[in-house]
Amino acid sequence: MPSIHPSASVETDSIGEGTSIAAFAVVGAGASIGAGVTIHPHAVIGPQVRLGDGVEVLPGAYLGREPRAVGAIARQPTFRPGLALGPGCSVGANAVVYCDVEIGSDNLIGDGASIRELCRIGDGNVVGREVTLDRDVAIGNRTRVMDKAHLTGGMRVGDDVFVAAMVVTTNDNSFGGRGYVDEEIRPPTIEDGAMIGGGASLLPGVRVGRAAIVGSGAVVTSDVEPETTVLGVPARPVAR
Ligand SMILES: CC(C)(COP(=O)(O)OP(=O)(O)OC[C@H]1O[C@@H](n2cnc3c(N)ncnc32)[C@H](O)[C@@H]1OP(=O)(O)O)[C@@H](O)C(=O)NCCC(=O)NCCS
Repeated sequence: MPSIHPSASVETDSIGEGTSIAAFAVVGAGASIGAGVTIHPHAVIGPQVRLGDGVEVLPGAYLGREPRAVGAIARQPTFRPGLALGPGCSVGANAVVYCDVEIGSDNLIGDGASIRELCRIGDGNVVGREVTLDRDVAIGNRTRVMDKAHLTGGMRVGDDVFVAAMVVTTNDNSFGGRGYVDEEIRPPTIEDGAMIGGGASLLPGVRVGRAAIVGSGAVVTSDVEPETTVLGVPARPVAR
């Protein structure tokens, strides 16, 4: 039997054995909650969100946020309702995961992280505290994105990648000045096993090759060859 606090608002019957839903939590209609899930106080699980077995959602987290189509934004949001979070994941306090996100198993989503619609995340990753994953970011498996890093819209990140704290990535050299023009959006790519040092910056369209190292504070203006180390501003290869 699940345990549901009397003050929780729960609009689904699809709740697995041993799941607990704490005070003032909200679970929307059509949500599917696995077995052994722990939903802490004030967490909001939106309609049609699917949580796998053993997931833990810390206080104040919001899963299934709809993007807002207000006039100030460059692109009208497109998304499907709901999201899927695989078994064994932990979602930190006040983290926000938008609709139409698919997250595999055993991922750690840190406090205050923000994951936009269309993101796809594999298994065993860390998305650190206050990391921002913009729209349509894909991350492979066992990758670590550390605190306050920003992955820009459309990025592709491979397996076993390390993105250090405060890394910034960008996808538009027009600074959004011409509105949202798909052809001008050039997200960077980070291949398997690459490591990006703290505070480094990846400019639009660059590809960081497999097992490459980008030094702390570097500004990467052009592609980094596999197994190469680059340092400085602008980043240049050095002997390894
Ligand atoms: C790339 C890196 C691994 C190189 O480390 P290293 O091989 O020990 O390098 P060294 O400290 O021996 O320095 C070698 C030279 O490169 C320079 N250098 C080192 N790191 C640099 C950097 N990030 N930017 C510019 N120059 C750098 C050093 O000043 C030194 O120059 P010198 O020979 O003229 O004195 C390291 O600089 C780095 O950026 N680490 C990232 C750390 C990080 O973000 N970790 C994340 C988890 S906490």
